[in-house]
Amino acid sequence: MQPRILVVGSLNMDLRLSLERMPAPGETCFGRSYAYIPGGKGANQAVAAARLGGQVAFCGRRGEDSNGEILEEGLRREGIDTACLKRDAASQTGLAVIPVEKNGQNRIVVLSGANMQVNREDVEAALRQPYDAVITQLEIPLETVFALHEMTQERGIPLCIDAGPAMPLELERLAGAFLISPNETETAAITGIQVTDDASALEAAGRIRARSHAAYVVLKLGARGTLVYSREGGRFYDAYPVRPVDTTAAGDAFTAALILRYLACGHMGEAAAYANAVGALTVMKEGAQPSLPAAAEAEAFYAARREA
Ligand code: RIB
Repeated sequence: MQPRILVVGSLNMDLRLSLERMPAPGETCFGRSYAYIPGGKGANQAVAAARLGGQVAFCGRRGEDSNGEILEEGLRREGIDTACLKRDAASQTGLAVIPVEKNGQNRIVVLSGANMQVNREDVEAALRQPYDAVITQLEIPLETVFALHEMTQERGIPLCIDAGPAMPLELERLAGAFLISPNETETAAITGIQVTDDASALEAAGRIRARSHAAYVVLKLGARGTLVYSREGGRFYDAYPVRPVDTTAAGDAFTAALILRYLACGHMGEAAAYANAVGALTVMKEGAQPSLPAAAEAEAFYAARREA
């Protein structure tokens, strides 16, 4: 049986700029190339979950414009149910501008547009269907995320909150969530703790768990791997070393893989090891959705790296 996943979140057209290096303030420099690529944290998570074997529905908002058409059609081609992707005549479809330097390091500016219209009623409508898990992030209004939390709690559905992009978060309003997963920058925005080593990662994860009482706090630590923190304490899972081409969407792919694997095996540590493999594969290709691996590729990479 395929796990049934609902993603409530953003979709953006990504304008990806390929650069030698970022210009200094006030400087003009030449880039190498640019491309329009489907992205948005929510849509990336939905596509990742579908490619990794989930039966996925997407709840969000798009404008009545060509970017919205292209993005919705892309989700449909992945087999994602878009019945709860609403059109918003008054807003543009979300856009993200992503300059990427030659070492794969990116910076992202998001123009949210219709994503900021996703509301409680949209979530209520989407939750009329049954799901094994729900994934969300912070590129939609926080009030909608809090409402989603309440509604999934009432229905007993595990909610996975990818805490990106970085912002302060009232963790007390997510009390008892199943999973909260920030990266290092997001962890600093939530806790004020700069994660520089194992001790600071453990301290930050412990603080997030103490305030939220989430069943799991999973810190995404980039090249250092992952920290899974639960009531049993914390355990680190190493990243798989690869040469990054573009880190865009690696965190989104990680979150989708984490929950899918957890639903399959019931063990968050095993799920984190698999999700690290999916994240590693994602950074080896350019762009957001084109870089998300399919299940067969992920399984093969994971098996090979585990053996090694
Ligand atoms: O996480 C990567 C995503 O963040 C990009 O696809 C961009 O759209 C922004 O939402």
